[in-house]
Parts: sequence; C-alpha cells; structure tokens
Amino acid sequence: MAPEHPGPSEPYDLAAHAHSFGAAADAYARARPGYPDDAVDFLVGRARRVLDLGAGTGKFTASLAARGLDVVAVEPSTRMLAQLRSTLDVEAHEGTAEATGLPDASVDAVVVAQAWHWVDPALAVPEVARVLRPGGTLGLVWNVRDESVPWVARLWEVAQQGSEHEMRASVDTVGAPFGAPEHFRTRFEHATDRAGVLDLVASRSYVIVLPEAHRAQVLAGVARVLDEEFPDGGEVRVPYVTHCSRFTLS
Ligand SMILES: C[S@@+](CC[C@H](N)C(=O)[O-])C[C@H]1O[C@@H](n2cnc3c(N)ncnc32)[C@H](O)[C@@H]1O
Repeated sequence: MAPEHPGPSEPYDLAAHAHSFGAAADAYARARPGYPDDAVDFLVGRARRVLDLGAGTGKFTASLAARGLDVVAVEPSTRMLAQLRSTLDVEAHEGTAEATGLPDASVDAVVVAQAWHWVDPALAVPEVARVLRPGGTLGLVWNVRDESVPWVARLWEVAQQGSEHEMRASVDTVGAPFGAPEHFRTRFEHATDRAGVLDLVASRSYVIVLPEAHRAQVLAGVARVLDEEFPDGGEVRVPYVTHCSRFTLS
C-alpha cells in the first residue's frame, strides 16, 4: 500500500508519512476541503453517536457537529488534535485506529476520512468492530482530486504525486466481521486561491517529509503552473471526486 504519495524513486516509510501531518497542521487546516453533504448522509445514515477516527484537524468532524450528532474524535497527532480543539467543541481524544481507547459497543457509526490507508487493518478492523454497536457501520471516504481536468493533472505531475487509486484500494482490507461494502460517489469543487493551492500541496505527507531544498523546488514548480494557468489570479476552483464505502457489522 503506498499512501499519499511517494515520488517515483523515493524510498517509502509508512510510519514517517503517517506521523508527518502534525508538522503541517496549519496548512492542512487552511487548505484541505471539507466533505459534501450527500457523502456525509451516506456515511452516517441514522447514527446518533459517531466516532471520527483519524480526525486530523476536524474537517469531517465539523460536518458531524453541524448536524448536532453526538461526536467523538480520535486522532494520533497532538498538533492535529490541537487544531481540531481550537475550532470545535466536541469530545476528542488522542488514539489510533488500532487502539481507540473507547468502550465496547459505544458508537453507532465510525467514519475514517482520508486516513484508512494509514492504518494496520489486521488491528484496526477488530478494534472498529469492538467499539461499534450491533448493526453499526464503518464508513471510509476519500476526496480525490479530479485529474481528468487538464490543469489539475499538470499541477499534480509537477508536484510529483501520482494518482490516488492506491488509497482507495485499501478499502479491500476490510473484511469479517463486516459485510460487503456499499459504495457512493459524488463530485464537488473546492473554491480557493493561489495560496490555497500551494497550501494544499504543502499539506501532503509526501511533500511534508521532503528535505527543505526539494520541498522548495516542488512548491516553486507548482507556483509556476498556477501563474501560467491562472495569470489573472483570483479564485481557483479545484475539482474533486468523493469516494465513499460503507460496511455494516454483521
Ligand atoms: C490525510 S489526514 C485526514 C484527516 C481528517 N480525517 C480529514 O479528513 O481531514 C490523515 C490523518 O490520519 C492520521 N493517522 C495516521 N495514522 C493513523 C492511525 N494509525 N490511526 C488513526 N489515524 C491515523 C494522521 O495523523 C492524520 O491526521
């Protein structure tokens, strides 16, 4: 599994990437999009108490809180968690998908947004099953930039990140005691600007862990593409496809 996203010739270190986000928590909170309402509907259904697992700075948590749901956020990075706590008044704990720290059968739904590819499924699947009530659901979601749009493909090529299909392949690691997945896909555009797109690239794990000179080079390349594609500046609308999978505890 090669998450979010090693360059073609880079040695890959899962732990370094998974633990990298705290270093760019500000850029992450500023730049990353939230999740469309129809995706949240699909992932949460009629659940009342929901665990947002790998909650990061709270991008998905915010949608749950806005619905008045009983939310608990769990996240391993103290810096991401600090960002979440600075903007959201929800129950939030340090923990991982492999060890959430929650009681048995205590939530109706678990959602893992943009993070299942970081977890060890051999430990995380039984842990999620343990904290879910009977008939509860595990929802996985990824916002994937739409590279069928030429400027998006060009920009991410310069950013030296390939397509994100490996992330979504991690859906296949969920098995018993969960049933077969149901899938849902939707599209949206994230309205931002030049600085927002640069933050978007800077908040990717692959870019965070680069040596400083290499990171500056990547960001300068992205800036050049933005100057050429959007010479008048102003708003940039980044197209995304949101991929959701929902598994029910059998
Ligand atoms: C791309 S961010 C997604 C954050 C948030 N869910 C969102 O949608 O913006 C991935 C998150 O997974 C967290 N993470 C990494 N390894 C994890 C693990 N084993 N269990 C739970 N979360 C993990 C990272 O700290 C990071 O906050």
